[in-house]
Amino acid sequence: MKQTKIISKEEIAQQQAYAAQVKNRLQGKGMKAHIRTYGCQQNEADSERLGGMALAMGYSLTDDAEQADLIVVNTCAVREHAELKALSITGQFKHLKAKKPSLLIGVCGCMVSQEHRKENIKHSYPYVDFLFGTSMLYRFPEIVLTALCEEGRRFYLDDNTGNIAEEIPVHRESDFKAWVSIMYGCNNYCTYCVVPFVRGRERSRKKEDILYEVNDLIQKGYKEITLLGQNVNSYGKDLSSDYDFADLLQEICRIKGDYWIRFMTSHPKDASFKLIDTIAAYPNIAKQFHLPLQSGSDAVLEKMNRKYARSDYEKLVSYMREKMPEIAITSDIIVGFPGESEQDFEDTLDALKTIQYDNIFSFIYSPRAGTPAAVMQNQIPEEVKKERFARLLSVQSEISKTKNELYLGRVERVLVEGHSKTDQSMLTGRNEKNRLVHFKGGDALIGQFASVKITQADTYALIGEIYE
Ligand code: 5AD
Ligand code: SF4
Repeated sequence: MKQTKIISKEEIAQQQAYAAQVKNRLQGKGMKAHIRTYGCQQNEADSERLGGMALAMGYSLTDDAEQADLIVVNTCAVREHAELKALSITGQFKHLKAKKPSLLIGVCGCMVSQEHRKENIKHSYPYVDFLFGTSMLYRFPEIVLTALCEEGRRFYLDDNTGNIAEEIPVHRESDFKAWVSIMYGCNNYCTYCVVPFVRGRERSRKKEDILYEVNDLIQKGYKEITLLGQNVNSYGKDLSSDYDFADLLQEICRIKGDYWIRFMTSHPKDASFKLIDTIAAYPNIAKQFHLPLQSGSDAVLEKMNRKYARSDYEKLVSYMREKMPEIAITSDIIVGFPGESEQDFEDTLDALKTIQYDNIFSFIYSPRAGTPAAVMQNQIPEEVKKERFARLLSVQSEISKTKNELYLGRVERVLVEGHSKTDQSMLTGRNEKNRLVHFKGGDALIGQFASVKITQADTYALIGEIYE
């Protein structure tokens, strides 16, 4: 097995020196950077690092692309829809470049880590100045400096085997909620998934680095920390000790403070009873578990290369509920995987009814170039996928609503996130179980825990009033 490349302190210092050079060139010019993010929390965490590096280079950050002197589109490749959105927005930036020829446009992230997409952008988006893959993130200052100083477009991609770079500057979007990546990449090769190809193989950060970062956030008053990895349950398997994810959680929870720890994502084949016992034992760990089942049919699970049967999964769920009767369990479900029969799909509906998830994230199968499932026989026609998707949502909506109704009349502790997107007069937050809660209250509550009495339960959110 190839060794994980640890980016040395000298290489990071070199990037800081490039950032300082950019800052010198831009000094006093009021330059602005706009970072557009698609995809999962890992991408959001990466964008917070791009933001941190942009600030170190002397840019200020703007949400308005029209104002920007530097635009970076951080892309996702997990489904075609995400790729098309990123390509479409990149296309829309063409007219900005026409208005301001000095504008630099870069595209990074999972989508451009695929050879065919790199070629696509190279040839069809000539106004894009540079591309860089996921493992090149730490070289952003060097990439921008080169684009400012030298003519020509540049494409920074490597073999995606993966590295770990510590101490990259970070500009966190929130001062009370934070992402902390504990590992990168994935070794599982589920047959539908492009992630192992674009994010490289699994590699864990050193526990000392993670504990330092989490402790620092808690001391700064952060109230919610989400530990990130494609499969956090296999944390540490690549390090030479038997310290695992449950051990890491235990050590984090010994840090004193008023905060919730969440984590995602978990693979059922690696979720252990020890992990479940740890969640039960520590009040700071939110009683919420996102455990993607993907399909309720053993035949489909096998073709997906998921390495568990539905009965193994249900054993985990039973143990979780035995230890923590109120735990919220959520899942990812894919409909229309190649060869999925009507019976296979009904097995998935049956799994939803048996397991009674609090919520699910459901996806229509999207063939991904280079993955085994994309070339499997019996691809399911779009209209069948859509019809199954609608049936899946309708079964889960009923379950989610019934589950939400259990909260009626209860007082919930809520971490207040801001104003509701649909009704600015309402505040919105999440309870420990990660359910959305809307209520009326003053702005001073944003970033704080509040007690909310639940008065109404909808399918996707709870509504309540502040409880003094
Ligand atoms: N098509 C549809 N959904 C997918 N996912 C991953 N790859 C695909 C694909 N090719 C879903 C899985 C995963 C979630 C993050 O995205 O359900 O858990
Ligand atoms: Fe993709 Fe499977 Fe890895 Fe998750 S565990 S990132 S679905 S290959």
